[in-house]
Amino acid sequence: MKKKVLCLAAAAVCAVSLAACGGSTAETTAAATTAADTTAAETEAEAETEAAGGQLIMATNAEFPPYEFHDSSKTGPDGSDIVGIDAEIAGAIAEKLGKELVIEDIAFDSIIPELQSGKADIGAAGMTVTEDRLLNVDFSDTYATAVQAIIVTNDSEIAGPDDLAGKKIGVQQGTTGDIYASDDFGDENIDRYPKGVDAVQALVQGKVDAVIIDNEPAKVFVGDNDNLKLLDAAYAEEEYAIAVKKGNTELLDQINAALKELKESGALDEIVGKYITAE
Ligand code: ARG
Repeated sequence: MKKKVLCLAAAAVCAVSLAACGGSTAETTAAATTAADTTAAETEAEAETEAAGGQLIMATNAEFPPYEFHDSSKTGPDGSDIVGIDAEIAGAIAEKLGKELVIEDIAFDSIIPELQSGKADIGAAGMTVTEDRLLNVDFSDTYATAVQAIIVTNDSEIAGPDDLAGKKIGVQQGTTGDIYASDDFGDENIDRYPKGVDAVQALVQGKVDAVIIDNEPAKVFVGDNDNLKLLDAAYAEEEYAIAVKKGNTELLDQINAALKELKESGALDEIVGKYITAE
């Protein structure tokens, strides 16, 4: 029932904007017509968003700079203070879809359940594509590569993954760092924290011997702490993608089309360049 009403509303919007275009084409130049079309298209998109209550709800864990984090001095794409690469990519996708972006900041390991229950539409959280996760959600095309990096204190003797055996390793709960490290080094050697930065804090306080976390947030955390260093030897390589509820191919196709446009236009690189400076 709800769907039908939405279709009717959309049709009405189309009719109105067509009439508006027709009127302006008659007495304006080609350039002006394009401008008028664009305005009409924008108005249409806005009206449709309103008519459809068209929100794109993004579930994330905004403790993961530079992909998603709170910055009280900025306004992010959904009007909150959540900014970062994923936030901006999602903002650009929402715009292409004519929807209003709403960002939900939740625990990282709640993101997949949130998609499964239909409370959120997309999960954008520097989320790595894994076989296990693919059993529960579908992933878009990938938009970034990452490595699991190892952070230690400056005076640490740990020089690479092999030295981690028998050591206490701090991770963010539910992340690939957690999953891989638990597999490789045993559950009993892993300390799980709600946020990556908490694991880093535990390292500073000597509660753990190393932290395994994605390389870009690792760089940010190490940059904030003089007595920490990032090891050159990475632990695992992976790829990030946007997750949707399993079987939601309609949304997945729209996201992939939008991502493709963002990649081809250079907009994606531009977003990444705002947050990550090339070495
Ligand atoms: N890439 C890792 C994973 O998928 C960590 C992602 C953590 N993201 C976050 N927003 N806290 O498990």
